[in-house]
Amino acid sequence: MPSPSLSHRGGTGTATILAVETSCDETSAAVVRDGRYVVSNVTSTQEAIHRRYGGIVPEVASREHLLTIAPVVEEAVEQAGGWPGVDAIASVHGPGLAGSLLVGVNICKALALARDLPLLGINHLEGHIYANWVHDEANPSELPEFPLLALIVSGGHSELVLMRDHGDYQLIGQTRDDAAGEAFDKTARLLGLGYPGGPAIQEAAERRPHPPSPTAVGEGQIRLPRAWLPGTHDFSFSGLKTAVLRLVSSPHEESQEWTAAVAAEFQRSVVEVLVGKTVAAAGELGVRSVALAGGVAANKPLREALQRAVSLPFHCPRLWLCTDNAAMSAAAGYFHLLRGDVAGLDLDVVPGLRLAA
Ligand code: KG4
Ligand code: ZN
Repeated sequence: MPSPSLSHRGGTGTATILAVETSCDETSAAVVRDGRYVVSNVTSTQEAIHRRYGGIVPEVASREHLLTIAPVVEEAVEQAGGWPGVDAIASVHGPGLAGSLLVGVNICKALALARDLPLLGINHLEGHIYANWVHDEANPSELPEFPLLALIVSGGHSELVLMRDHGDYQLIGQTRDDAAGEAFDKTARLLGLGYPGGPAIQEAAERRPHPPSPTAVGEGQIRLPRAWLPGTHDFSFSGLKTAVLRLVSSPHEESQEWTAAVAAEFQRSVVEVLVGKTVAAAGELGVRSVALAGGVAANKPLREALQRAVSLPFHCPRLWLCTDNAAMSAAAGYFHLLRGDVAGLDLDVVPGLRLAA
């Protein structure tokens, strides 16, 4: 494996990374310059396929990755002007579905070997955090400052992570049961709102008339719990989901308005807890900035409420960078390369890979 020297580009730290992301149901490849500027990003989503089953079927996901990975990578490289501009290959090797990760990791290894390029092993969750570094070249904005508190909320994870520097992660709190995105997905299924649940719940809540009609189910009529778990920075969302199940199973008004009112109250409960816990942790840790990350970061009420509540510089990725994509992993890869954190060709998939202890 070649040494990760950046001197061939003038020693300025300039480097262009190709990243491949296949941890779940998105096949994505992207080329990003200097950990910040997207040169190309190609994503093939399997959403329509898994919607039929109401959730991701791992076997189907890995086969779809196998079918689409080569054209996706080819297109991302071609759009970026070909291989001469690529300095390293970043491969997401966990956490995620083993069969899906294998497809991405294997193509990255083959390309690193064939092209004699450094291979970088990326944690999917650090990718989500680094979505906050990706900016528009024409419209650059402030980068997050350390120490940084990141709230990662995705389909599989809900974590508060302290970053004192690039690559330095400390787990501050995490969910004790369901992830925030999982709670959205399960609740949407209970309410018959479809898949993926996050956008479906947000849309149902948004469809509520403003101001409510005189016969509408009132704000205070449906009340769901908030799990504060005092004295910890941990989360819990399974009780909330069970409370929705209880509501759905007991006699209730069969109307779209009722469903929308439950969706809105569910969303309020999740947002209040995530915001309250993040603000408390940020204050306690004395961080300089706060960042939101993961698929649930696309949730509009969450973005707005956190922005309002945090009195520090607050960062959240542009919408397309919240859900899984390779651009965020390429941004993370740039900082791996910069500090010489290069993987060997024995890089393995780690479905339960942790960001921090
Ligand atoms: O990060 P991600 O794309 O995949 C994982 O790493 O899991 O996150 C997917 C999750 C799903 O649970 C989805 O329902 C949720 O993100 N999500 C949302 C929204 N958009 C996606 N949750 C709430 N509101 C949204 N607008
Ligand atoms: Zn993700």
